[in-house]
Parts: sequence; structure tokens; C-alpha cells
Amino acid sequence: MKNLIIANWKCNPLSVSESRKIAGSIKKGIGRIKNSEVIICPPFVFIQELKKISGLKIGAQDCFWQEKGAFTGEVSSQMLRSLRAEYVIVGHSERRQYFGETDDVVNKKLKVSLNSGLKAILCIGENKKERSDGKVGIVIKRQLIKALDGVLFKKSDINLSVAYEPIWAIGTGKPCLPKDAKKVFDLIGKILKNKCGKKIAGKIRIIYGGSVNSGNARGYIKEAGMQGLLVGGASLNPEEFKKIVKTCEK
Ligand code: PGA
Repeated sequence: MKNLIIANWKCNPLSVSESRKIAGSIKKGIGRIKNSEVIICPPFVFIQELKKISGLKIGAQDCFWQEKGAFTGEVSSQMLRSLRAEYVIVGHSERRQYFGETDDVVNKKLKVSLNSGLKAILCIGENKKERSDGKVGIVIKRQLIKALDGVLFKKSDINLSVAYEPIWAIGTGKPCLPKDAKKVFDLIGKILKNKCGKKIAGKIRIIYGGSVNSGNARGYIKEAGMQGLLVGGASLNPEEFKKIVKTCEK
């Protein structure tokens, strides 16, 4: 299984021309990458333009849980499919924190994404207080079990990855140590095995996100066993992002 390296641009950059420039530069630098699948998740409004860059894989950062209807401002998974987006991030902590997404909403979004044929990247992770209170396991288990409630997997077609993103590590420059990330990697693997069975669990990639840069990226893959990375801030700098991708090849 290839590593999944995802660029989450969040609410950046400010113009379509800038988005083209960053994505073009990333694409040029990853031509000979063999062990990783690289996905760019720009804001919705840039997806169509970036799909014009041949060979670039695109995902969205979110999608609504209904297919269509009177839901002003929302974007559905079918719309994303029609733009030929392949992936979608579901349940990012910034969505949970700033837009009130509950475990129930995340569950609905995950189901609609998978049903429409998108490959979902489900984000879970504890906040600082939950970590200091020793509640990492409880939080991870709750978020994961609730997100997967009622999700049916076809054995041939497992379109899910789980991103462990400790909230205290996101955008703070204080990444989780690989040895600590490894503990959560093992826990997620165990929960997935119990919930979905060994065969299906073996096809679900577990990746890490939170202050990833070219200096620490390799540790998550080699020491923590992660099968990919979700990169925020550093993915807007094409040179840094390309270094991250290349260092995971070694
Ligand atoms: P960061 O963001 O790399 O800027 O910490 C990661 C994320 O939110 O996915």
C-alpha cells in the first residue's frame, strides 16, 4: 500500500492564480515519486482549475451530508464527484471546533462521501486537556466508533483512511512525538480490527497530521508506522512540501 500524503490548504491561498502556481510546482517535483500517493485539498472554488493540471490528484476539505436541496452555501459529495475530485477530508478538528460539527454530523458526512464514491479521510484526535487528563484512548475510541456507525464496507473497495490529528499539534509547531503517535496508531488499528474485521482494517490507512514538516515527516512513517501524512501549513510552501514527500520515499 502506498503512503497517502495529503496537502490540506485550509482557507488558502487567496487567488486562483496562486493556487495554480503552488499546485503546478508541487506536481513538477513529485513526478518520480513511487511509494506515495500525493493529494492536494484546496478550497472548493479552486478544484475545477486545479483538475486541469494533468495527473494531479485532488480532494476537498469537507462536504455536506445531504446530496442536494435547500441548504444555502453547502457543497455536496455528488458535486465534488462531478468535478472529478477523488478524496474528501471529513471531520477535521477545525470543522468540529469552529463550525460545530458533532460526531453525528461527521458520521453522516462520512456515509454520504463513501456512498458517492469519494475516498474519505476521517480526522480524529484529542485536545490538550484530554491528553493531559489521560483520555486519549477514550476520545479516539468514541470519535472512531461514532464516525463508523452504520458504515458498510464492500470488501473490494475500502475507500477510507483515518488521520490521527492531535488538536494540540495542529498549527502549533509542536508535533506529537513519533513514539506517542505510534501508540495511537496501534490503538486505531485495534479498534478498526474489532469493528470491521482484520481484512477490511488492513486496507484502511492510518496517517498522521499536526505540524508535519520536512524534518519530522520521516519519523512518522518509519518510527510510528504511519501510512501517510496530512500536512497543513507546510503544504502551501511547494519546496517544503516536496521535501516532505521525498523524505518519505527513502
Ligand atoms: P498543520 O495542519 O500541518 O498546519 O499543523 C495539519 C492539519 O490541520 O491537517
